[in-house]
Amino acid sequence: MVNRLSMDIGLVYGSSTGRTRLAAERIREELGPEFVRSCSDIRCCGRRAFEAEDLLIVGASTWSVGELQTDWERAVPHLDGLDLRGTRIALFGLGDQHNYRDTFVDGMGLLHDKLASLGARLDLGAWSVDGYGFRESLAVRDGRFVGLALDDENQPELTAPRIRAWCSQLRAELGLAPRGVVRAA
Ligand SMILES: Cc1cc2nc3c(=O)[nH]c(=O)nc-3n(C[C@H](O)[C@H](O)[C@H](O)COP(=O)(O)O)c2cc1C
Repeated sequence: MVNRLSMDIGLVYGSSTGRTRLAAERIREELGPEFVRSCSDIRCCGRRAFEAEDLLIVGASTWSVGELQTDWERAVPHLDGLDLRGTRIALFGLGDQHNYRDTFVDGMGLLHDKLASLGARLDLGAWSVDGYGFRESLAVRDGRFVGLALDDENQPELTAPRIRAWCSQLRAELGLAPRGVVRAA
């Protein structure tokens, strides 16, 4: 397979205490800022974040009990009517598997269903549940997370390696050139 040298990736996240924002910045760094052209907070950008890219990476934490992060909760009704057919989306989510073991990263599952209902193609970045200790999650389908699950509260030492491994999985799934290969002019 010939690796692609160029790709426009957009990143959008919602974050209440900054953990998801930090993860988004790490993902951008890991994939390479030459590919990830924007990294936006859904609180500021709203549905503009969903304008066409080759790939959109969408991140959310989970709050209340099994609810979307507040800014996403406000933004989601405004996404109605968007036509995301043909838009490829990969997801990541932050949560706390010990204190919220029945709703671990539910927000990622809620966003998955919303974006799927708008026609998005969500076939990238599924992630193994191995190494986590939760009971239930709306983000698990067919025994795998629909995207990268991170738990900064209980497994902070695993966040960076998980991001690294997930980004390298995404690169392989996208046929994207390995890190360090310069973007074509
Ligand atoms: C009041 C409260 C409710 C939470 N509810 C959940 C939950 O239902 N499921 C979950 O996985 N994590 C839950 N969390 C954990 C957060 O998702 C986690 O701290 C996350 O890293 C926050 O990311 P953010 O700072 O980017 O918003 C909750 C945390 C708090 C303080």
